[in-house]
Amino acid sequence: MSEGERLTELAKRRGFYFPSAGAYGGASGFWTYGPQGAALKSNIEDAWRDRFVVREGHQEISAPDVMPEPVFEASGHLAGFDDMIIECPGCGATHRADHLVEDNTDIEEAESLPNEEVMEIIADHDIECPSCGESLGGVSVDNFNLMFETNIGPGSSSPGYLRPETAQGIFVEFPQLSEYARNQLPFGVAQIGKAYRNEISPRKSLVRVREFTQAELEHFVDPEEDEPPLEDVEDVILPLYSGESQQADDGGVEEMTVGDAVAEGVITSDWVAYYLGVARDWYERIGVDMDRFRFRQHLPGELAHYASDCWDAETEIDGDWIEVTGFAYRGDYDLRKHADHSGEDFTVFKQYDEPVTVSRPTVDPEMSYLGPEFGGDAQAVADALEALAERDPDSFEGSEVTVEADGQSYTVPVEQTNFSVEEVTENGEHVRPHIVEPSFGVGRLIYTVLAHAYTEDEVDGEERTYLDLPPEQAPTTVGVFPLMDKDGMAEYAHDIADALRAAGHSVTYDDSGAIGRRYRRQDEVGTPYCVTVDYESLEEDTVTLRERDSTEQTRVSIDGLAETLDRLADGETTFDAL
Ligand code: GAP
Repeated sequence: MSEGERLTELAKRRGFYFPSAGAYGGASGFWTYGPQGAALKSNIEDAWRDRFVVREGHQEISAPDVMPEPVFEASGHLAGFDDMIIECPGCGATHRADHLVEDNTDIEEAESLPNEEVMEIIADHDIECPSCGESLGGVSVDNFNLMFETNIGPGSSSPGYLRPETAQGIFVEFPQLSEYARNQLPFGVAQIGKAYRNEISPRKSLVRVREFTQAELEHFVDPEEDEPPLEDVEDVILPLYSGESQQADDGGVEEMTVGDAVAEGVITSDWVAYYLGVARDWYERIGVDMDRFRFRQHLPGELAHYASDCWDAETEIDGDWIEVTGFAYRGDYDLRKHADHSGEDFTVFKQYDEPVTVSRPTVDPEMSYLGPEFGGDAQAVADALEALAERDPDSFEGSEVTVEADGQSYTVPVEQTNFSVEEVTENGEHVRPHIVEPSFGVGRLIYTVLAHAYTEDEVDGEERTYLDLPPEQAPTTVGVFPLMDKDGMAEYAHDIADALRAAGHSVTYDDSGAIGRRYRRQDEVGTPYCVTVDYESLEEDTVTLRERDSTEQTRVSIDGLAETLDRLADGETTFDAL
């Protein structure tokens, strides 16, 4: 059984996650988190919120899942959020063409290749349909838009889409969010919420699904002035798999501090470097095995339409590398696009410390000349003259000036443009912020944390499976068991469970079956500690405390039990020291 299959079996059996709507045959790519999974998910989200929102001093919002079509026209998703699809002529099954290439050749990252090349590779390698075995040579590779379309209200006059990334819900609200930030850069806005992609072939349980949770941070910065606090992370060691290493014959992962990676130009954006440093320690905190982890730089052909540099955090499972987070420097792409399409102001007014006097070239074209001369194009020519005056005032030095408008050249006597240079005093300027974006997939993190926590050992000659989850992430922090359901032990154990819950612990009370079986059940869901009430408890007010990983047991007083568990979880004490 592969690591993934073992995990999926455990996840279903113990209530982490399972395919949705099974009673009706299910729908591929949709998963329900059971009680353990929902608790783990919310613990990971809380840890993310704590590190990337609260500690960074950012704000969090919650925007709608459905957004109107113009949002996605502006963002570029309508025109270009596509995957390569190939349809089997034999059985009609559809597949991701780039995945077929990756699965059947040595080629990695085939999504960066043009469709025609992928089609050729499929033909050259005689790749067959994984569903029926029919040859796919010569079958066309097309684009398939991944967005789920819907109608907003009755009728079809107002199309909408389920958001394919939570980020757009932040970008479109920039004018409002900027006001809340008192128009002062830098500021960050985060969101944890659902994103939807109609994936051609969902696979590997939570890894490629059609509905998933993203935790995204959009950090708006002034590209001229703002610098990240790199000194906070400069000594963090990053496992970097750079674009150069990927293209070299003998390239591999290189361990480098954040400081060195920036100094040597391996990571070109200081902001991206900062977040890689912050994130590296956070992954370790939530239980990612750092021996199965790397940051991989996007190759040029792989970059998203908005990104100038991008690194993915990847985790290894079953020998495959899975992207769990994308770190992108998006520049001003998103705010520029939304400004152009909406006509709203997506800039921040930056006040100067002191007013400055600047030369401002202006034109005031004679429309009584442009109108008869250029007819319907007169306004376009006037606009082009205005833009040229700002961009290249020297062009107005001769007797004539030539501008381009709508693909045509127009020559205008300079005297008809009323060109002049004025001295003006300015108090500030409009700045379009750049965006730095760490974008985490929560489901893939859950999958990784569970896969990396999965451990098998032998206890008293018996095989045991347990999840060595960090206590902060464990769905249940303590299991409470009465040794027997008699002589007041159950009531005593219930009281302890209630007291621990009141102190903020997530408690599972279990009185069914032998104690050994109850321990195993908690081991399998990663509960770090269990408390057993026995006859001695009734007389001495002590309980048996058992540690998951070592299976060691010790007697502790019920006085201060909640605090003892807190100190163990925080690493302030060890089990041996109790
Ligand atoms: N706003 C940027 C953005 O959405 P992305 O790389 O497309 O970037 C970010 O997605 C993260 O979302 C990925 O690193 C991955 O963890 C998660 N993700 C993307 N598509 C997914 C899918 N179909 N199923 C599960 N997680 C997915």
